[in-house]
Amino acid sequence: MTAPPSRGSGGFDAKPAAERLDASAVAALELLDRQSFPPGWSAAQWRSVLGGGRHLVLGLRRSGRTAVPGLAACAVLQVVPPEAELLRLLVHPSLRRRGLARLVLDAAFSILRRDGCTCCHLEVAAGNDAARQLYHDLGFQQRGVRHGYYGDGSDAVLMSLEL
Ligand SMILES: CC(C)(COP(=O)(O)OP(=O)(O)OC[C@H]1O[C@@H](n2cnc3c(N)ncnc32)[C@H](O)[C@@H]1OP(=O)(O)O)[C@@H](O)C(=O)NCCC(=O)NCCS
Repeated sequence: MTAPPSRGSGGFDAKPAAERLDASAVAALELLDRQSFPPGWSAAQWRSVLGGGRHLVLGLRRSGRTAVPGLAACAVLQVVPPEAELLRLLVHPSLRRRGLARLVLDAAFSILRRDGCTCCHLEVAAGNDAARQLYHDLGFQQRGVRHGYYGDGSDAVLMSLEL
């Protein structure tokens, strides 16, 4: 009998590895974005973060055994050593709570440390409980609040992590 996928594997054949994405991933990123965090970025926004030298775009590909091809997760960071900023973090809705966000961020933080970054900043909507809990678990500290920052009037919470 085949053992069920472990909770940490995300249903993959083996523990997935994060990989740097390039311009060939625009369509897959747009799709993941629309599915995960609508309305999502435009193709032009994706091309600009994939094309410039200041961004790190990491993705986790779905395994060949899943019914739906494409990306399971991604993280986009702006990198200006010694600081970095997390701009986008997406995990496909069907693959959440399996450790994929933690996995892709751990990979990103290793690359950032190697590239001379000592701090990572982010902003998150005050009502995004899942993301806030994730960032808290990873050791991010709250640094401030921007009241009414988003278009719908909600607050942005500013957080930072010493790498
Ligand atoms: C936030 C998000 C990236 C988390 O991805 P994920 O792969 O499900 O997260 P992980 O499985 O790695 O979870 C790690 C920890 O984060 C916390 N967490 C994640 N989702 C949570 C939820 N829905 N409720 C409470 N805590 C949550 C937990 O502490 C979890 O650890 P545990 O499962 O051992 O309890 C995902 O929900 C998502 O893509 N949301 C939409 C986009 C978004 O909000 N992005 C962030 C802002 S830009």
